[in-house]
Amino acid sequence: MNNSLLIQFENHMIKTLKDFKGINHELLSSMMYSIEAGGKRIRPLLLLNTALALRGENNESDFVFACAIEMIHTYSLIHDDLPSMDDDDLRRNIPTNHIKYGEAIAILAGDGLLNTAMELLISQISNESTKNAAMVIARASGANGMISGQAYDVKTVESKEQLLMMHQLKTAELLKSAIMAGAYLAKADEQLINKLEVFGEKLGIAFQISDDLLDVEGEESLIGKPLNSDKKNNKSTYVSFYGLNQSKQLLNDTVKQALDSIEDLGLVYLETLAKFMLERKY
Ligand code: IPE
Ligand code: IPE
Ligand code: MG
Ligand code: MG
Ligand code: MG
Repeated sequence: MNNSLLIQFENHMIKTLKDFKGINHELLSSMMYSIEAGGKRIRPLLLLNTALALRGENNESDFVFACAIEMIHTYSLIHDDLPSMDDDDLRRNIPTNHIKYGEAIAILAGDGLLNTAMELLISQISNESTKNAAMVIARASGANGMISGQAYDVKTVESKEQLLMMHQLKTAELLKSAIMAGAYLAKADEQLINKLEVFGEKLGIAFQISDDLLDVEGEESLIGKPLNSDKKNNKSTYVSFYGLNQSKQLLNDTVKQALDSIEDLGLVYLETLAKFMLERKY
């Protein structure tokens, strides 16, 4: 993995947050708390590495997009942990936002991160490529994507088809949009965009299957969130529908489909990340 890109991203993220002026002090503190807690930064790294692979370099705008998508993801985690959602008290190895700041500020911190992300995206629109990149992220995180997925998640899912759809919406859409945004920013052609769309979809499904597995078989200190949260909440997951062994088989199959979709394109970062889904412990 390209560690220097991660460091550059972290620097941009901190600078972006420091540039916030005039924000309510407690709100800003709460927004920074969850962002600075870290996390794998998979979505910004997908965006940056895709643009880098296709364009040969990253530009300033790539980093603004990367910050926006991580803010959206972090907001989704703050809200996902709320008592009315998954009711979890640990995230990124520290107490969840609402445990630290109370529910009201946690909700507002999520809102603040989401809206600021939209400001960042809009600030970058200057042509068709940047418009497409902003739009794909906005759409994937909105009512057509992640938010619908979360709405399915809070109710019991009835069938395996619905389970797949829920995983597509709540997780795969945003991951896919990170890759697509990177590709749009690098002005990739339509044929390549279509292949990356398939890859992103498969990677996203694999990501959530492995997340469901880690909820049961992971180690709390590594995943940084409570084990057995899904069971506690009677969630519909790959493990609850298929059991552990078949879920692992499906994870293998999905990663293989992901790799097949970008075969011979030489997109090493994407291949490495897809393989990471098979062995990840965090
Ligand atoms: C967790 O995402 C939420 C899911 C979509 C499963 P990550 O596992 O990427 O969380 P962080 O960003 O590393 O904390
Ligand atoms: C969350 O799925 C997906 C989001 C859109 C945040 P989970 O509820 O399984 O995520 P974790 O396990 O709490 O990170
Ligand atoms: Mg959830
Ligand atoms: Mg959760
Ligand atoms: Mg989970």
